[in-house]
Amino acid sequence: MKEKLEQIKQRALEAITEAADLDCLNDIRVSFLGKKGELSKILKGMKDVAPEDRPKVGQMVNEARNKIETELEREMEIIQRQIREEKMKAEVIDVTLPGTQVNVGHRHPNQIALDDLERVFIGMGYEVVEGPEIEYDRYNFELLNIPENHPAKDEQDTFYITKDILLRTQTSPVQARIMETGRMPIRIIAPGRVFRSDEVDATHSPSFHQVEGLVVDKGITFADLKGTLQQWAQEFFGPDTKVKFRPHHFPFTEPSAEVDVSCFKCGGKGCRMCKGSGWIEILGCGMVHPKVLSDCGIDPEVYSGFAFGIGLERIALLKYEIDDMRLLYENDVRFLKQF
Ligand code: DAH
Repeated sequence: MKEKLEQIKQRALEAITEAADLDCLNDIRVSFLGKKGELSKILKGMKDVAPEDRPKVGQMVNEARNKIETELEREMEIIQRQIREEKMKAEVIDVTLPGTQVNVGHRHPNQIALDDLERVFIGMGYEVVEGPEIEYDRYNFELLNIPENHPAKDEQDTFYITKDILLRTQTSPVQARIMETGRMPIRIIAPGRVFRSDEVDATHSPSFHQVEGLVVDKGITFADLKGTLQQWAQEFFGPDTKVKFRPHHFPFTEPSAEVDVSCFKCGGKGCRMCKGSGWIEILGCGMVHPKVLSDCGIDPEVYSGFAFGIGLERIALLKYEIDDMRLLYENDVRFLKQF
């Protein structure tokens, strides 16, 4: 019996020293110390041991159990320490290495110009609103006094989705949408993307941005329009900027005008920027046509208003002296970071 016990202990200890991981150790624990393990088998065989020898054998089994348990613990700690050390080695951080750089983008010139423009108009009490890019023909043309077969409809080479639904060619439909709500007075700007079936070149793109402006109230006159745009031009292009109104035609305004600003590069003397004229064309505007007012549910005998439309890319290109519109759409951060 004693020999058998000694053998078991020896085998257990050998297995422990050879164990490669915690699972192995666990298997050893089960097969030697477990309920059906080798030591339990010995204890079960006690009935065959002479009664006077039983305490002795019992003691020997306990000693063997203790020895095996102690060794198991010891080996377990060694393996656990190894695991910890390997983990620490694998996770080590060299704080002297250069960090990973997070590449921060840059505000787009369009956005810089728009923020600047919004700041001025918000300062004058305007609200910034938006309309849908996919628009009904009714808002994009009809309510703006551009009826079916009007030549102005052909000028704006339009992307149609159905006969009645299209990608808006201008931000002017937001005028009609706002007027239709019936809330008075109106003082809004509406920036947004517009679409025209144009070929890409240095000054054209099938998708670009406009900022629409609309004021409707009692007693609004052309003088208000002039004063407003003069104020904006001076804050946007510089305090010495002058504005010039040239008669023009838009179906939804009467009278209508195109507005030039004195060249902010040469101050009006004439340079490459203004092609020698001293003036740069920047927007279209006018007094809201009485028919547009009444079609949108506003009584033109009581109310009057003015509207304007600014090409966002146009003023961004001018202000930041960028000579090719395509640069705005390439999103090359090395280009964008210059502004
Ligand atoms: N929607 C016009 C265009 O895209 C620009 C415009 C002109 C807007 C005169 C206006 C305006 O509000 O009054 O060409």
